[in-house]
Amino acid sequence: MVSNNQLFHLFLFLCFFQITCLHAQLCTQEQTSALLQFKQQFSFNNDADYGYCDSVGILSYPKMESWKEGSDCCSWDGVECDNKTSQVIGLDLSCSWLNGTIHPNSTIFHYFPHLQSLNLAFNYFGMSPISSEFSRFTRLTHLNLSGFSFSGKVPIEVSFLSKLVSLDLSNNYDLRLEEPGFELLVQNLTKVRELNLCSVNISSVVSNSLLNLTSLTHLDLSSCGLLGKFPDEILHLPHLNKLIIWDNLALTGYFPEFINSSSPLQYLDLSVTNFSGELPDSIGNLKSLKMLDASYCKFYGSIPTSLGNLTEMTDLDIGYNNFTGMLPSSLSNLGNLVLLRVDSNSFSGPFPSLGANLTKLVELDLSNNQLRGPLPSQIIGLPNLTWLSLGDNLINGTIPSWVFSLPALDYFNLSNNKLTGHVKEFKSTHLTVVDLSNNNLHGRFPSSTFKLVNLSSLLLSSNNFNGELDMLCHAISLQILVLSSNSFNGSIPQCLGNFSIYLSVLDLQKNNFSDIIPDTFVKENSFETINLDSNGFEGANTKIFRELQNATSARPWT
Ligand SMILES: *[C@@H]1O[C@H](CO)[C@@H](O)[C@H](O)[C@H]1NC(C)=O
Ligand SMILES: *[C@@H]1O[C@H](CO)[C@@H](O)[C@H](O)[C@H]1NC(C)=O
Ligand SMILES: *[C@@H]1O[C@H](CO)[C@@H](O)[C@H](O)[C@H]1NC(C)=O
Ligand SMILES: *[C@@H]1O[C@H](CO)[C@@H](O)[C@H](O)[C@H]1NC(C)=O
Ligand SMILES: *[C@@H]1O[C@H](CO)[C@@H](O)[C@H](O)[C@H]1NC(C)=O
Ligand SMILES: *[C@@H]1O[C@H](CO)[C@@H](O)[C@H](O)[C@H]1NC(C)=O
Ligand SMILES: *[C@@H]1O[C@H](CO)[C@@H](O)[C@H](O)[C@H]1NC(C)=O
Ligand SMILES: *[C@@H]1O[C@H](CO)[C@@H](O)[C@H](O)[C@H]1NC(C)=O
Ligand SMILES: *[C@@H]1O[C@H](CO)[C@@H](O)[C@H](O)[C@H]1NC(C)=O
Ligand SMILES: *[C@@H]1O[C@H](CO)[C@@H](O)[C@H](O)[C@H]1NC(C)=O
Ligand SMILES: *[C@@H]1O[C@H](CO)[C@@H](O)[C@H](O)[C@H]1NC(C)=O
Ligand SMILES: *[C@@H]1O[C@H](CO)[C@@H](O)[C@H](O)[C@H]1NC(C)=O
Repeated sequence: MVSNNQLFHLFLFLCFFQITCLHAQLCTQEQTSALLQFKQQFSFNNDADYGYCDSVGILSYPKMESWKEGSDCCSWDGVECDNKTSQVIGLDLSCSWLNGTIHPNSTIFHYFPHLQSLNLAFNYFGMSPISSEFSRFTRLTHLNLSGFSFSGKVPIEVSFLSKLVSLDLSNNYDLRLEEPGFELLVQNLTKVRELNLCSVNISSVVSNSLLNLTSLTHLDLSSCGLLGKFPDEILHLPHLNKLIIWDNLALTGYFPEFINSSSPLQYLDLSVTNFSGELPDSIGNLKSLKMLDASYCKFYGSIPTSLGNLTEMTDLDIGYNNFTGMLPSSLSNLGNLVLLRVDSNSFSGPFPSLGANLTKLVELDLSNNQLRGPLPSQIIGLPNLTWLSLGDNLINGTIPSWVFSLPALDYFNLSNNKLTGHVKEFKSTHLTVVDLSNNNLHGRFPSSTFKLVNLSSLLLSSNNFNGELDMLCHAISLQILVLSSNSFNGSIPQCLGNFSIYLSVLDLQKNNFSDIIPDTFVKENSFETINLDSNGFEGANTKIFRELQNATSARPWT
């Protein structure tokens, strides 16, 4: 049995032990004053990160405010000490409002030889160069200088930091890694797992030495001006989770075969590069893939059926390539898809049967292909679909009712197809763009569409719609209204001249409007284009119309 007294002594002992532990945290006077001197180099501006941190959900505040003489620097915000030696081993001053320059004589470089982790991301360092003194932190494993802060040449000395596990120099818009900087960096940072050089100007051929970085999990070389052939074996690195190389227009490359089905690759963005070739069947082995963006490349051939094996996929974008053939029905297995873009290719055949699985879709873009035949008569449950773009195909038949019932629809484009029949009332009240131009649709256009307060573009030209525009005055966001070559009739509403300050394109030509032009038109307006020709009235010849045309053509941008 343990007596109360014994417990009390045990308690006292634990308290004492705890206090000694805390005492061991006290940082040295030298490091305290070095940090306080470092603090004095800066002023604090909440816009030092240009609002970036808030926009990505990282709390942004002046961490250095808690840095005060007479307190233990190991307890300061953003400072981490070694529990045994009390040496400062970590500084996280990301998103801390810092505005100032880090000169080579800064105390930061001279009193912290044990520093392992330094994060200065998203402050403002006056677009100064990165000091070569950073290479004094020889034990550094994590260095993060991301942000809109530094410019100039990345000092070669950064490649001396051979213990780095993570290096982030991204988003410094005018930072250069001159030859042989990239090569040296890649050769020496053999332990690196995360390497982010997004928007650092490298402008050289990609080094094959990248293949030696076998620990890589994240590699971001987007907008680096890379040249030559990308070593596609990088896609086989055993731990690679994220490869982002978009916007390197002179970078060529291919998809390798994926023999191994245990690839951890989840994010692959090759968009806006010169990658080409076909998608291999073995792409179906990339079981973990969630995001594939291969848009704006030079890929061709047909889509392998095995793509339908990648059931983790949420974002698939292969738009703007030269793909041909049919869209495989296996795509309907991808029940986690949120975004599916295959636009501006040469896909042919019938509209793919997307089944009832793709309920999470938010964006579906199949536009600018050669898909033919009717739309599926029934697709159920697309509660979150906001973007439906099927324009520039050879789709015929009528528009099935499920399309008009989509509750969240915002962008709707079926233009340049061969659709017939009527248009029903839209269920969604969020619509901003409706484009049905160049089809064979007819009948009364539902006037409830004109009551949509978010509607900014309504394009219905070259169909055979009729109806009146009396509800139009409710569409207060309208910027573009093109109703030409239809059979709309009635009078042109008085409001049109002034109801939407944004209205810039008004094309009502070749209809059956009967009234003269309202004189409200000549008031202050934003018209860039206006055409009311070939209606059933002489409006186009009235004085008001000519004044209006004069006013429009006098604008500098027309
Ligand atoms: C940094 O401070 C200077 C004046 O000290 C100011 O002109 C500048 O706007 C500040 N920059 C940012 C990004 O806060
Ligand atoms: C130091 O101790 C604290 C509290 O026990 C712990 O959370 C932290 O991970 C330790 N740090 C190191 C570097 O060991
Ligand atoms: C550090 O260097 C800067 C720029 O060269 C200079 O303006 C500043 O006076 C120096 N500070 C100290 C303490 O020497
Ligand atoms: C690699 O790092 C070591 C220090 O760790 C340095 O001596 C060497 O010069 C570096 N090599 C290159 C190519 O940067
Ligand atoms: C660098 O820091 C920023 C801000 O904290 C963070 O968003 C980013 O992920 C960090 N980079 C790396 C490679 O950890
Ligand atoms: C990869 O590393 C090995 C051994 O360190 C070296 O011999 C080889 O040259 C390196 N390969 C590249 C492409 O840098
Ligand atoms: C598609 O292929 C044609 C010829 O085969 C070529 O002219 C065109 O540039 C290619 N388009 C793209 C986006 O690669
Ligand atoms: C992958 O897809 C192909 C073609 O659809 C199929 O034959 C194969 O069984 C699938 N493999 C797995 C593991 O699901
Ligand atoms: C839905 O997906 C599952 C597997 O993810 C598949 O077995 C099923 O056939 C799909 N249903 C349709 C209608 O495509
Ligand atoms: C639709 O979006 C909402 C809100 O983002 C989400 O909670 C819901 O699960 C989504 N529905 C489907 C079927 O994905
Ligand atoms: C749609 O076009 C196909 C040919 O692509 C044709 O066989 C079919 O009859 C057309 N359907 C309608 C409703 O016009
Ligand atoms: C339109 O402009 C022309 C030449 O600038 C002018 O002759 C004409 O009178 C103007 N018409 C009206 C109606 O203002």
